Amino acid sequence: MADEIELIYKGVNYKFPLVHGTENETAIDIKTLRAQTGLITLDPGFKNTGSCQSEITFLDGEEGILRYRGYSIEDLANQYSFIEVAHLLIYGDLPTTEQLDKFENDIRDYALVDEDFKIILKSFPKSAHPMGILSSLTSALIAFNPSSVDINSEKDFYEAIIMLLAKFPVLASWTHRKMKGLPLNYPSYELSYTENLAHMMFRMPNKDFKASKTVVSVLNKLLILHADHEQNCSTSTVRMVGSSHAGLFASIASGISALWGPLHGGANQAVIEMLEEIRIDGGDTQKFMAKAKDKNDPFRLMGFGHRVYKNFDPRAKIIKKAADEVLSELGIDDPVLDIAKRLEQEALQDPYFVDRKLYPNVDFYSGIIYRALGIPTEMFTVMFAIGRLPGWIAQWKEMRFNKEPIGRPRQVYTGATHRSP
Ligand code: ACO
Repeated sequence: MADEIELIYKGVNYKFPLVHGTENETAIDIKTLRAQTGLITLDPGFKNTGSCQSEITFLDGEEGILRYRGYSIEDLANQYSFIEVAHLLIYGDLPTTEQLDKFENDIRDYALVDEDFKIILKSFPKSAHPMGILSSLTSALIAFNPSSVDINSEKDFYEAIIMLLAKFPVLASWTHRKMKGLPLNYPSYELSYTENLAHMMFRMPNKDFKASKTVVSVLNKLLILHADHEQNCSTSTVRMVGSSHAGLFASIASGISALWGPLHGGANQAVIEMLEEIRIDGGDTQKFMAKAKDKNDPFRLMGFGHRVYKNFDPRAKIIKKAADEVLSELGIDDPVLDIAKRLEQEALQDPYFVDRKLYPNVDFYSGIIYRALGIPTEMFTVMFAIGRLPGWIAQWKEMRFNKEPIGRPRQVYTGATHRSP
């Protein structure tokens, strides 16, 4: 059988080659479609359109599989540090001991931001949304590091990537401190990447601070679980902006804006808002379970079900265990977290949810963990962004190294034809 597909249009037979991925996905290569036939394709939301060939992340929603560079998310989250996974995503392999030492030390060396960032931060109103602040500060990095824009050599690429990995958690944690009206913390050379994140976010000026092993471990897992998810909205944005040869920082700033949307990064915030709503209503979880099952009621249990994972969300399996550990260690007495536990138990036994395979997704547990750690709900998407950073960088780098053309979709024009004034 020929490895091509035939299209008959106006009686003429055209042939288009098929492209096969390593996990049996097959695509029709339509690069010459318009030139040959005059036709274009129409696919709003790109649900049937592969925008690139990528070697970074594989996911199979039916089987509940997520792999970075071939390694399963379970192995990575349970055995590796976020920074090792960042290396894997960006450079294709887990680092050797020497590579890891260099990578971590280079990140430590670049981990300070210009003190003038404090002036920019100060000028935002306290009510500003942290994602808006983070996107603006990431754009501002360009002005303070102009050498990061026009990058052509491997060395330039490396430096821009290290700078961004190093400075991003500083900017994100400063955004958190600004929201809370707290003094800003600096990274410490002695701490690991994730320890530093906890230190910069949570250290109080009047107390010694050392993040517990459980807290560091759960943060590490959350960052890894969010590190990449192939061609989602924010990642496609990063690749699209980068395809114009805009610099890495500008592309990432755009990705942050895309992630900000409630249809993308905002689901874990929606989980806590729903739990609060249930608490304010009196805490009757059965009532809300009934609402979720009622076809005439638009209410849905936030944090349950997933568009892609139709059997289970592999990330939720990993993080549920970590959530149990961290909640029991912190021993927090929070009615909202009690409601979450009850809902989880009830839904896991309810035939409506079981039959439809509606399990808690990663956002259900990540929202609960962030709340238990004292992170405000508006900051949840910022935490997601810190995790997603290596994925964005890896995808941007792949796009530039593959010399992909500028992204420029076409349209089917449906407006007025020529009109006289
Ligand atoms: N609560 C109650 N019922 C639900 C829920 C839910 N959370 N999710 C799906 N269902 C029901 C639907 O009503 C439908 O029932 P029916 O077959 O009787 O008509 C059935 O389950 C299938 O649902 P679909 O809408 O077809 O599933 P879809 O893939 O379109 O939606 C989605 C997936 C959007 C995630 C949905 O499950 C949902 O709204 N969940 C709550 C929001 C949420 O948690 N989003 C975060 C996803 S994770 C992430 O984005 C990182």
